[in-house]
Parts: sequence; C-alpha cells; structure tokens
Amino acid sequence: LTEHTAHSAWLHDDAFAALGSRRVVVAGDGALTGTVAEEVAAATARFGGAFSRLEVGDGVSDAELVLTLSPPLVEPVETPMVSTGSTGEGTDESFRLTREAGAVVVQAASDAGLLHGLFHVVRLGEAAFDGPDADETHAPATDLRMLDHWDNVDVHPVMGQVERGYSGGSIFYDHGYVHADLSRVERYARLLAAVGINRVAINNVNVHTREARLLTEDLGDVVRVAAVFRRWGIRVHLSVSFASPITLGGLDTSDPLDQDVAHWWVRAAARVWDAIPDFGGFVVKADSEGQPGPFAYGRTHADGANMLAAAVEPYDGLIHWRAFVYDHKQDWRDRSTDRARAAYDHFHPLDGAFSDNVVLQVKYGPLDFQVREPLSPVLAAMPHTRVALELQVTQEYTGQQQHAVYLGPQWSQILRFRFWDASGGEGGSPTVADLATGRGKAVEDPGTGTWRKPAGGFAAVSNVGDDEFWTGHPFAQANLYAYGRLCWDPALDPGALLDEWAALTFPGTPSAVRDALHTVLDRSWETYEQYTSPLGVGFMVRPGHHYGPDVDGYEYTPWGTYHFADRDGIGVDRTVRTGTGYAGQYPAPWSAVYESPSTCPDELLLFFHHVPYTHVLQSGSTVVQHIYDSHFDGVARVEAMIGAWSEVSTLVDPHVSERVSERLAEQLRSATEWRDQVNTYFFRKSGIPDERGRRIY
Ligand code: GCU
Repeated sequence: LTEHTAHSAWLHDDAFAALGSRRVVVAGDGALTGTVAEEVAAATARFGGAFSRLEVGDGVSDAELVLTLSPPLVEPVETPMVSTGSTGEGTDESFRLTREAGAVVVQAASDAGLLHGLFHVVRLGEAAFDGPDADETHAPATDLRMLDHWDNVDVHPVMGQVERGYSGGSIFYDHGYVHADLSRVERYARLLAAVGINRVAINNVNVHTREARLLTEDLGDVVRVAAVFRRWGIRVHLSVSFASPITLGGLDTSDPLDQDVAHWWVRAAARVWDAIPDFGGFVVKADSEGQPGPFAYGRTHADGANMLAAAVEPYDGLIHWRAFVYDHKQDWRDRSTDRARAAYDHFHPLDGAFSDNVVLQVKYGPLDFQVREPLSPVLAAMPHTRVALELQVTQEYTGQQQHAVYLGPQWSQILRFRFWDASGGEGGSPTVADLATGRGKAVEDPGTGTWRKPAGGFAAVSNVGDDEFWTGHPFAQANLYAYGRLCWDPALDPGALLDEWAALTFPGTPSAVRDALHTVLDRSWETYEQYTSPLGVGFMVRPGHHYGPDVDGYEYTPWGTYHFADRDGIGVDRTVRTGTGYAGQYPAPWSAVYESPSTCPDELLLFFHHVPYTHVLQSGSTVVQHIYDSHFDGVARVEAMIGAWSEVSTLVDPHVSERVSERLAEQLRSATEWRDQVNTYFFRKSGIPDERGRRIY
C-alpha cells in the first residue's frame, strides 16, 4: 500500500453509508462548516443520497438530516471555580441532536460543534435515523483533549524518528524537514477530529537542537501543519526547550527571573502567534532526564512555568508543564531515594503558585506508564493548580504494538478511581476524571477544600506513524480511538468503545469477527500484566528499548526502578512505617489501605511492600505461586487469542489479517519468553517449586 492508500482506520468509506444515502442539508458558515459540507457531499455522492448547502434559517422541506449552526445551546456550567485570567478555554463544542419521525436535526453553537455532531451521526449509522424520538445535548467533558507526538524532525541516533514510536517514521517529518506533502497529516487530522481530539503537540518533549528551530526559523513549516489541522478544529502546540534563549537566542542564561530571558520568550511568543493566531501553546519537559530547566538557576518550577505563561498569556496560550521530574542518576545503593516520591515532593509544595494558564501535566502513575501502577498522588495533591492527566497511547511498556493490548479498560479504571474513597462504591467524592475535567464533584475536594482553578484536561502520547495501518498493529488503532472518545466522555464503557471502533473500521463484517475481536482484546491488558512483571512491581524490561523481559535489567542502574528481589522475597517497601514513606503521599483512606500488606490490593502489593515469596495474597495464593500461575495463564490466554483470531481471519481484509496474524505470533513468542524468564528467575531465587509441577527451567 502506498501512503495514499493507507488504512482508513475508523473512517472506512462504508461507515458513511447511512448518512450518505439520505437527503442531507448543511446550513451555516465558518471554515469547519465547510469541512462538514465536504464530508457530506462526498458521502452522498458515494451512496446516492442528496446534499444541499443552505443559509441558517432557510426553510428545509424534505431533508432527512439537517446539520445547522444555531445560537448557544448549553448554559455555562455554574461552578464555584474562580478563573482569574486566561484559561485556554475554547469554543463551545457541544451539539444538540433531535429526532422526530426519522428526521434528524443536529444543531451546534459553533462550527466545531457541528463537526462533532457530524461524526456522531456517522458513529450511530442507521440507528441515527431508525432510533426512537430523541432530544439530546452532547458536550465534551473538557476543552483540553490533547495528543502529544514524540516525533523528531531529524532521525535521532538512538531514538530514531519517533521516540517510543512503533509505527514507522513520523507523519510530519522527513529526514530533517517537514514533509512537503501533508496529505497524510490531513487524513490523520480527520481521524482525530472524528474522535474529538482538539489539540496536538507535534514534536518530542525531548527537544533536540534540530527540533528547537521549529520555534524560530522553521516556523513557516509549523504554519503549514497548523493550517491542515485547523480545517478539522485542532490547534497545534510545540514542545520547547527551556534553554531556547541560549541555544536559539544567543543569550548566556535561561534563568526564568532574568529580564532578557523573559523578553526573549515574549518576542518568541509574539512571532508564533503572529504567524498562527490559533496556536495552542508550549509543552515543557524541564529538569527531567537531562532536559534543561529552572533548577540550574536555583529557581522553582513555578518560576519557570510562570515566566513562560506570562509570555503566552496575551494570546490565551497555555503552558503544559510536565510533572515527570525525578533524579535519573541515582545510586542504586542509595535506599533513601525513591523515584516514586519525586513528583509529589517537587510539585506539592508549589500548589497555588502556578499561573492560571499553566497546566501541570501528570503521568497517571508515579513511575512511568507501567502496565500497573497506583495512581500518581500528585493528581490529588494540587487543588489550586490546573492538573492534566497524561496517558500513553503508544505502548512503550505494554507490548510496543507488537502485542495486542487494548488499553481502554486500564484508562477507564484510572478515570473512575476515587482518591478519597476506597469502598469501590459510586460515592460522592471526585473521580480522577472529575479532577482532570473540573466537572461535577471535583469542586468539592473533601481533602483540601475547593478546587479553585479550571481543570487541565487530558494529554497522551500518540501511537501513530507512517505505517500503512498508522499504528503498526492494526488493533492498536482501537487505543487511539478509545483515548479520544474517553477524553470526550470519560464515563464511556471501554467494551462499547471497542464495538464502536470495530463497526466503523470493519463495517459490514460478520458478527463472528466482532466476537473474535472481543475475545482477543477485552482482557488483553490483564493478559499482558499476567505474563510480564508481577503484582505491580513494574519494569523487568530490557534496558534502553524496553521490549521483552530482563528481570534484573534495571536493578543496578541509576534509573530508580528496582524490585529488590533476593532469595527470601521481593518488592519495594514504600510504607511510612518502615519504607520510603511514599504511601503517605495519598489522602485517607488510600494511605492506610496501601500502608498495610493485608489491605493493599494484590495487584499493587509489590509496589508498596517487600514480602517473602511465601506471603499469602488476598487471593489465597502465595506470591511465588501467583507468579507461576499468572505467567502460565497469560501465555495460555495468548494461545486462546490466536485460536479465536484464526477462526475469522479470512473474513477480514487480507492485509489486516496478515499483519494481525504475524503480530500475534510474535506476541506468543514474546509472552513465552517472559513466562520462562520470570518463572525461572523466581524459581532459582526462591528454590520453591511450582505446586502444579509445570516446566520451569
Ligand atoms: C519515558 C520514556 C522516554 C520519555 C519519557 C518522558 O521515560 O522512556 O522516552 O522521554 O518517558 O515521558 O518524557
């Protein structure tokens, strides 16, 4: 397949059949209304419907679907949140759908809302027209629904073109330049718009010399990229280096309190917004894994972020400031340093010190996108700061798009987690989704009082590249799909999202294919967890590229990701009583729940506790027997996935089928390697045989 025939993902032509065979009217002005009209014109031409473009308010007689701009639909949400400056809050993207006697009307206050309404109708398919009478208003949970690309303009000698990219090269950059032909970016923007993403950062958070120039001499190329995204209601952001005043501006400092430095950023921001009036803002990874930052000048991260925030404030720009700050050069012999503690220790004291247009972007876990981590306590510790939840759609630690791992269930669990309630009930305290969106109960934080600022929304690392399927593994498309949809509505059910994705991606395929997809993907996250690192201990991956098992790979390195296995036991003591104290960073009741091995959930036991191999889990199994059982089960499940897929593989597009089969074979090979290395390691350490006498090497 050439670039131009790359997989259509969830915008398969046939997914437009219901809409395309109807009489459709589009009314209104605005650039995105033009985009809506083009979509409708193409679909009706393809499927024999009829399309007309009218002015708002023109009489419409026999249309079956009307997509029209209208006055504001949603009353502003009344919350006690105080906004004291620019907030980056965007346009009203909501839409209202009414259906009476089969005639469907979509009304939106903005052309962006109209575009979302169009894709909603596409998702519904025939049900949009056949369903019962309806009057529904749909609005996104947050205005900040962002995707971060870790793409390098140049090919980095170690990380390649896309850092942690498993889908080929970048869709934006050729070797050292922005692509002359951006048609692939256009198709990507269309896919993102269809799932509701409205902001994209187009370069790696690790900003190398070549990439830094996007801010200055290559700004013209960013203008071209922004123009493509604009047609789909998406704003562009850039990752910037905190040292830019030195590296690009020739100053001898990037001290945030230096006047010349502040002026340099003011001028840089003015240039960018002059060229791109709807530019979104800057993403900053500072004092993290070697990136420059304010610490070099004895300044705080609030000093650094606020200086940048002031420069972008006149344009309603945002600073996404990442909380991924820790010592990546620690001594493994030093037991007093705990990487998990770092973000909270750095940022909690700064709560309330950040400007209103700073969004603190927090990875979901305290370490690094592991298959299982407790949620970062920073999310709950910053009531006076705008906090964004950062997820990783690219599967760095979850099989690198070789393994079929559907992350929707993990994200859904994260979004529904309640920091102030361990009962598992639907109690009154805020969920993580509430904290990130500022909706509902987030404003009543029971721990620390009222949340003062608007929320920071969502950000995630993209999994897309120039691969013919966009994502390497065709099923990894489902992750990008689910991420976008969960940003729009965090309450959506991940299983239902899988159905939506499958119906749009493989329209018209027999229900057996749908069933097989569920068999392969529904529990795939859990399956991956079973055959990799056990009980929340994390890592055990090969250093550098992070693919495949290496139990001690990081054990004696400076990276702070240790499991401390010896002949008697395993795990990290992060208790307050005898360990690093990390458990105490949680509010009650979780601080107490995590503190005790008898109440700590099994799946996180080794994250919080060092226990003997004979420790009995809440499940009734011992730690070492759990390790053996889960690793054997995990591989058996992959075999079952392969069985389910082989029964339907001839029923789907042979290109897709071939790629999936090839990746499933690799998943089985890799899962088997994980099983055998992990089981053998713990058998040799503990000397305790498997109760069931299975083969361990
Ligand atoms: C991980 C990842 C890096 C990345 C970093 C980040 O550590 O391995 O490649 O740069 O996260 O989030 O900044």
